[in-house]
Amino acid sequence: MTDAPPITVLADDTAYAEAVQLAVDSAAAYYADGTSTLDDDAYDRLVRGIQAYEEAHPEAVLPLSPTGKVAGGAVVGDVPHTVPMLSLDNVFGAEQLADWAASLERRLGRPVTEWSVEPKLDGLAISARYRHGRLAQLVTRGDGSAGEDVSHAIGTIVGLPDRLADAVTVELRGEVMMTASQFEDACAKRQAHDGTTFANPRSAAAGTLRAQDRPYVCELTFFGYGVLPPPGDDSELAVRLRELPHSEIMGWVAAQGVQTTAATPVAGIVAETLERVQERVGEIAAVRAELPFGIDGIVIKCDLAADQAEAGFSSRAPRWAVAYKLPATEKITKLIDVEWNTGRTGIIAPRAVLEPVELDGSIVTYATLHNVADITRRGLMLGDSVTVYKAGDVIPRVEAPVVHLRTGDERPIAIPQVCPSCGDAIDSSQERWRCVRGRACRAIASITYAVGRDQLDIEGLAENRVQQLLDAGLIVDFADLFFLTREQLLDLERMGETSTDNLLAAIEQAKTRSLSRVFCALGVRGTGRSMSRRIARHFATMDNIRTADSEAIQQVEGIGPEKAPVVVAELIELAPLIDKLVKAGVNMIEPGATPPEEGAPAAVAELPLASMSVVVTGAMTGPLAELSRNEVNELIERAGGKASSSVSAKTSLLVAGEKAGSKRAKAETLGIRVLSPEEFAVEISAFL
Ligand code: IVH
Repeated sequence: MTDAPPITVLADDTAYAEAVQLAVDSAAAYYADGTSTLDDDAYDRLVRGIQAYEEAHPEAVLPLSPTGKVAGGAVVGDVPHTVPMLSLDNVFGAEQLADWAASLERRLGRPVTEWSVEPKLDGLAISARYRHGRLAQLVTRGDGSAGEDVSHAIGTIVGLPDRLADAVTVELRGEVMMTASQFEDACAKRQAHDGTTFANPRSAAAGTLRAQDRPYVCELTFFGYGVLPPPGDDSELAVRLRELPHSEIMGWVAAQGVQTTAATPVAGIVAETLERVQERVGEIAAVRAELPFGIDGIVIKCDLAADQAEAGFSSRAPRWAVAYKLPATEKITKLIDVEWNTGRTGIIAPRAVLEPVELDGSIVTYATLHNVADITRRGLMLGDSVTVYKAGDVIPRVEAPVVHLRTGDERPIAIPQVCPSCGDAIDSSQERWRCVRGRACRAIASITYAVGRDQLDIEGLAENRVQQLLDAGLIVDFADLFFLTREQLLDLERMGETSTDNLLAAIEQAKTRSLSRVFCALGVRGTGRSMSRRIARHFATMDNIRTADSEAIQQVEGIGPEKAPVVVAELIELAPLIDKLVKAGVNMIEPGATPPEEGAPAAVAELPLASMSVVVTGAMTGPLAELSRNEVNELIERAGGKASSSVSAKTSLLVAGEKAGSKRAKAETLGIRVLSPEEFAVEISAFL
């Protein structure tokens, strides 16, 4: 699945010594407060380079070397652990996993009875000591044999209760981290306090856990992954906890009121074979991007206590468990420039230009920065080292500057004073800045979009022709197209009789498009093709849409309290354009849709794809061969389903045509039903 990342090659003893120092410093910063100068991938490469050099030059090994040490030898804290908190060995890919399992089974002289497979949570290991059911002390991992007392954080960690269900004395081990929303909240609090943000959720969690005197409190999350009875305790419970399989221990932990991953899509499972382990690895990897917390791999453990006891430990890690690493989704790179573009609705959006970086299988050069407020909130500067996040299909985004990597050469980001497209003024009254000319600023872009194949589908109206019509003053928006005369068109350069008649016929034809396409052509902010279809199906007529208030608009799936007022405001702004379309005789009705008051939900339930989320991939064949992707999606929604572009745990059905590729593989690992275009056509034949 993943290959091991390349190593840093070290030329001589000097390079080796420098590498050791860098690794030690980085590990210290990483385990102290998450402010390492290296991202995870770069650190792994470096340590592997050090290891390779040491294997070739055993005489040169420095005592400081991080190899073979827990936490890279970073020593923090003075509270001794009752049982050492160890690391895990890593494997990269299925082959290495199989090699690791084979060597473990050789050691045991028999197959492993059962495996437990769970996510590797990307946070910080913590030991939570409960006495008679009360949370008494929290200790970080430190160097594995002693950690730091962080009991001041008690009460701020979701999932780690002050009291267990039973008055037991045990030590819980697990990971402390920040969920995406906790991270956003922490960044906002820190920004308000000192104008800076955290680089990523992990370092935010690390800093927060150790911070004692902050004037603001940030919430953390705990997931348990193990429990230890006090050494020497031979009570019934202690004996049971030492003998139970790991999977059953986790059930006991959850019953005590402690959070485990059981309620998440990546819950731990027990696998009888390595094939099933590998399959579960695929399933966890497939949903990673949609999880509200970070994972950086999958932990595979012997489930039975007897297998664990026989496998034993090395000095650094247990031999009965391994971490299957997933590719990094976050890296540090340089922010080279910020480009400003005015979109077709007049919104002025910044885009980060980055030093190219490989992330989750692709090279990232540009990333979204959302808006001006986002730049100031994060305190970004040109030349900053920044954390960039990308996983799965998501658009890469700049998360934050890595403030401790600043050299002093960073420069402020120039914020535009006028619209970068037309030079007119900027309306900065909203978070998203906009050219005061609104859609008129990029009329060419909004008209070209409106006449495009998935909207009004006016053939023969390419961008250069639209520009010609704009330059001649014949149109200012796309509704004007419907009022063009034969004479006006014939007057234009490069417009003969045939092209004129063809264009007029195509424009006439466009008047009959479904409401969903007409609505989409309007380019209402925050709505695309599939949202336009949902709106049109929900309201059935343009009149119904126009009279809907913010609350009524929120009845449409996927429109929340933030988007609804934007849609309402957009429809007011677009009123003159819509009036003009009505006057031109453009269709304003969605075929087959029933307006809400006439009982649409009951009708939807009877449709063949009711409440199903359907993804289409690959080339269509059979009865669907001639349809564009948008037309297939329209069909799905007419049949009551929801068309989606990416496969996730929520997908009900994948229609896989020729050369279906990765979406098919992902659907198969998730156990999602897959149909060929021909089979699908049979299921929805009534709508074809
Ligand atoms: S079990 C003896 N299970 O990964 C070590 N660790 O790289 C047993 N981690 O220090 C650890 N998720 O902080 C275990 N499901 C999981 C985990 C997990 C994350 C962390 C943990 C550990 C580190 C080792």
